[in-house]
Amino acid sequence: MSFPKGFLWGGAVAANQVEGAFQEGGKGLSTADLITGGSVSSPRLFSPVLQSDCYYPSHDAIDFYHNYVQDIALFAEMGFKVFRLSIAWSRIFPNGDDKEPNEAGLDFYDRVFDECRKHGIEPLVTLSHYEMPWALVQRYRGFHDRHTIDLFVRYAKTVFARYHSKVKYWLTFNEINSAVSLMGMYGSLGVLQPEDLENDELRPMYLLKDQPQERFEALHNQFVASALAVQAAHEIDPDLMVGCMISHITMYPLTCRPTDILECQKKDRITNKFCSDVMVRGEYPSYMMRWFREAGIDSSYITDHDRQILHAGKVDFYTFSYYMSNCVTVQTDAEQTTGNLLGGAKNPYLKTSDWGWQIDPEGLRYTLNALNDRYPHIPLMVVENGLGADDTVESDGSVHDPYRIDYLRAHIQAMHEAIEDGVNLIGYTTWGPIDLVSISTGEMKKRYGFVYVDRYDDNSGSGARIRKDSFRWYQKVIASNGADLS
Ligand code: BG6
Repeated sequence: MSFPKGFLWGGAVAANQVEGAFQEGGKGLSTADLITGGSVSSPRLFSPVLQSDCYYPSHDAIDFYHNYVQDIALFAEMGFKVFRLSIAWSRIFPNGDDKEPNEAGLDFYDRVFDECRKHGIEPLVTLSHYEMPWALVQRYRGFHDRHTIDLFVRYAKTVFARYHSKVKYWLTFNEINSAVSLMGMYGSLGVLQPEDLENDELRPMYLLKDQPQERFEALHNQFVASALAVQAAHEIDPDLMVGCMISHITMYPLTCRPTDILECQKKDRITNKFCSDVMVRGEYPSYMMRWFREAGIDSSYITDHDRQILHAGKVDFYTFSYYMSNCVTVQTDAEQTTGNLLGGAKNPYLKTSDWGWQIDPEGLRYTLNALNDRYPHIPLMVVENGLGADDTVESDGSVHDPYRIDYLRAHIQAMHEAIEDGVNLIGYTTWGPIDLVSISTGEMKKRYGFVYVDRYDDNSGSGARIRKDSFRWYQKVIASNGADLS
């Protein structure tokens, strides 16, 4: 078993989950910097002002900002061909609408990309990974205001022009479909309601007031911003490839009852397919019009001019995160399970991770085939996949993580089967090749890495990096181009 020649093996991180140095190098506050740590039992909290007695994990994270040379060397030692990371928009335009970009921020990513190139690693860069400059939320309520489209496009053009000789692969918005299920509402959409912007009390993110009409308008503005960015990238350098990034929550009907099948189709379309249909096909799918009507969304904000932009700014490749699958049923008393962004009905045939996410490698093969059938003309890339687990450092300093190896092996086998099925899959970046801050709980305890980071949820730890057993395993996988998974 081996993968196509040139297959892009690597790992993926996001700025606010690794960089730290939240106020260094002229960086402005980002939406991610205002969310406290939490856990499975205590939600992350938000208030529009920083509280002096709270722990905010993004402020220091794993300090990639000062350790990128050492960290990229570890990725190179594993043989990475690609490294997915995001640019913190607020390092480039600290307030989002500054007159000039911040040279210190631009210089930081120059150095990071040079370091990747030195090791022959291709950077894959996300422009907005669950964050935006906080000032844009205060001034414009984020993407609710069309002015933010222009500001995003200016930011995109700035980094495309600066880095096009170093970075070929770009993604616009991480898991853009998270806006459909609320999760992305604050971080990357920034559509807070005035009462939440004025209320200084700390409160769980899920208590922030939602206004679906504004949320879908803001998501539309992101589609337009993304399509304009795609066009700008191609104008700056026709070799650049710009992709969409979808959180794929694979869904199965819980039973073969026709109402379950229909409910599953409906939920799968709005959750998984709607955003990529817009970004890959360049138009709103017809099924959304009924969905909007029934959800009480007035879609007259979609103008003819916007439709032309969407059509002219179709993405060059499709990328997605895949962690788990869920079941869908019309039954109201079905046992439930949690998951990435969304929970669902429990699948009796699957085991779960310690955080309750159902482990389903075959679902990845199924998903890849379904995506290849739907978008046969563009390549696919899995840009997040991995197991969050609570690892132990043994007294001799080793970290044994056979569960992580088992999880990844099964998913790599599934990808290979999909390629044999004819799927045009060009790369795979595991989530969190180095331990990082969890987005859902804000914890360090939920570890994904091949590299352990000595950093804990009480803000302690030396920050030292330790190779786990999975480090040597992934190194072998890459060296053999997927042939040796033992
Ligand atoms: C994806 C996000 O949804 O899942 C990442 O793009 C996130 O930012 C990852 O970290 C894993 O989720 P969590 O909650 O375990 O960190």
